[in-house]
Amino acid sequence: MSSALLDIHLTDDDADIALRADARAGLTASPKELPPKWFYDAAGSELFEQITELPEYYPTRTERALLERSVHEIAAASGAATLIELGSGSSAKTRLLLDAFREAGTLQRYVPQDVSASALRLAMDALALEYPGLALHGVVGDFTKHLHRLPGGDRRMVAFLGGTIGNLRPAQRARFLAQVRAVLEPGEQLLLGTGLVIDEPTVVAAYDDAAGVTAAFNRNVLHVLNRELHADFDVDAFTHVARWDREHEWIEMRLRAERAITVRVADLDLTVEFAAGEEMLTEISAKFHVEGVHAMLWAAGFGLSRSWTDPDNRFALTLATAE
Ligand code: SAH
Ligand code: AVI
Repeated sequence: MSSALLDIHLTDDDADIALRADARAGLTASPKELPPKWFYDAAGSELFEQITELPEYYPTRTERALLERSVHEIAAASGAATLIELGSGSSAKTRLLLDAFREAGTLQRYVPQDVSASALRLAMDALALEYPGLALHGVVGDFTKHLHRLPGGDRRMVAFLGGTIGNLRPAQRARFLAQVRAVLEPGEQLLLGTGLVIDEPTVVAAYDDAAGVTAAFNRNVLHVLNRELHADFDVDAFTHVARWDREHEWIEMRLRAERAITVRVADLDLTVEFAAGEEMLTEISAKFHVEGVHAMLWAAGFGLSRSWTDPDNRFALTLATAE
């Protein structure tokens, strides 16, 4: 990986402890629930990359088009020397930012942070070849827990793309943004990607594609539990559900047990019963209104610089400055 640095804020042991705690709490809760971060083992991260290519999954290509339109303004307005990206995954769209910052001549360092060590390593190997002059400093970490350990340095921009903020519940979201604000110095910036509220059929199709890739991504969390906690989920007995919640303005992804199932989670010494038709919540993906994005950024201590939206109003990219 050439001269790249890799910080581990989340060791395999930490991840194991966290998974055990989340699985015990979530599988014994009513209704049952698992946090979405456990989708992203190597297979899940690869499935997410496939989702981004699906005809129904509009967020990635819409955000990419917004970045294409705005990166030069962003780079000019920012003058950042360090770009930190949270939940960076494959860093695919980030290359647009890196190229624009490279042209602007300010960027010295890219700090991708992800809970998925496998996705991060793959991304960093490719970036080291493509951007030989750029210092790479990867961080394996959880953006809900380890923000205070991100590298310091002057003139930083934090990017949080893809609409991943929508995978946090409102209270987690507010805490997350306050933590991002707390690690930044006044004048440093946040670039935030958010899915917007659109018509129900389009958004549901994006989370329930015809090829079944999102279904496989959803069910992958059961493979993770089987492998990591020696559980015995019959994965094929669970079907993928994607439903728009009008009240909360979010998509809910659930796994529905198609028959009554008893699951043994050996490493937790836990037996879990699923009734026929019972659903377990595995992800919310909240969609926003631009004014709502501005309001949550203000509440967290950011001033607004600018928002960009696509012609169909499906996605917003917002550049905000820490006050
Ligand atoms: N930013 C990319 C990837 C989005 S997928 C894009 O816009 O396409 C969400 C990414 O966030 C995945 O790579 C996943 O591993 C990571 N992730 C999910 N929960 C996380 C958490 N709590 N902390 C850090 N990374 C997380
Ligand atoms: C990473 N995150 C923004 C994706 C989303 O759209 O909420 C995860 C995803 N879930 C299903 N498809 C994609």
